[in-house]
Amino acid sequence: MNTKALITGTGHFVPSKVVTNFDLEKKMDTSDEWIRQRSGIVERRHVEPGVGSSDLAYEAALLAIEDAKIDKSEIDFIIAATLSPDHYFPGIGVIVQAKLGLSGIGALDVRNQCTGFIYALSVADQYIKTHSYKRILLVAAEVQSSNLNYSDEGRDMAVLFGDGGGAVILEPNEKNDSRGILSTHLFSDGRFVSDLWMEKPSPKDNPTFSEEFFKNKKFFPEMDGRNVFKNASEKMPEAVRIALKHNDLSIDDVDHLIPHQANDRISQMVARSLKIPIEKVIRNIDRFGNTTSASIPIAMDEALKGRIIKEGDIVVLTAFGSGYTWGSAVIQF
Ligand code: UT7
Repeated sequence: MNTKALITGTGHFVPSKVVTNFDLEKKMDTSDEWIRQRSGIVERRHVEPGVGSSDLAYEAALLAIEDAKIDKSEIDFIIAATLSPDHYFPGIGVIVQAKLGLSGIGALDVRNQCTGFIYALSVADQYIKTHSYKRILLVAAEVQSSNLNYSDEGRDMAVLFGDGGGAVILEPNEKNDSRGILSTHLFSDGRFVSDLWMEKPSPKDNPTFSEEFFKNKKFFPEMDGRNVFKNASEKMPEAVRIALKHNDLSIDDVDHLIPHQANDRISQMVARSLKIPIEKVIRNIDRFGNTTSASIPIAMDEALKGRIIKEGDIVVLTAFGSGYTWGSAVIQF
């Protein structure tokens, strides 16, 4: 039997500043009632100026390292997922590495937006299974609050997204029992790039920054909410079914489903489609909004620390987002 990758530590970190729906009412034509009804979100966290996704990732990483009861010097590879890196380049992998004082080891950046954690988990899983690395730090973190359009024009997105970071440590299951990552399944459809994207800045424009750039405001993320909603509600259950079939599992075998926290209505539709009791679906979007790549590791850490997920439980992850990209993973904890 192949060595499986075990998640041996988790951590999450969110900024302390709470932004309620009522706070957003003051900035744009929206209401607490609309946001709750359409998304299930009550509040989200925003960073203070000067804080980047690498800072949230670093804090989450420290907590995951502590939880795994390892010394940070034992980490031999870093994978970082974000759509909101501190800089256009380089990615945050190397910045997190430097903050941890781990110069020299490899640091890989994953750019798969809301599905970033599952894509990154899949990469980590392959490295562990093939004995390439022994202790991988996987971080996923986002700072979105600094580049949302808080006018009426951008209200569909501005109310949804929040800042936060999550991290996990992956190690080989030396006992070779049934625990570990059982499989990961990745999908994408690049025909829908413009359904959810931040179009600019783009090196295709020469010069990249011009009067036009500031006038057109294409530097704010844009989303065709209805299309994304429809596709997310279909593709996430589809990815879960593929994952269960691959492992010869039925929906009754699943102890918990952790969907990317995109919109609580989407999570409920995914549950209905899969006929999984809603109590088995981990949901925390009410408190954090949609934190993109960080939403699954934040929810996972909360569920583990709250003893909702217990040793031996079968947990299925699924996500959908910009790209489009989507995917699933089955883990026995
Ligand atoms: O993270 C992965 C990717 N993201 C997602 O999965 C998000 C997917 N999409 C969604 O969650 C939903 O489409 C939204 C929450 C963004 C919007 O909800 P919806 O039920 O699809 O609303 P809608 O876009 O159909 O808009 C309904 C109305 C529109 O007004 P009219 O045209 O009916 O007069 C919007 O202009 O709601 C309006 N609206 C708002 N009203 C108050 C849009 N945003 C807001 C707002 N406050 N924040």
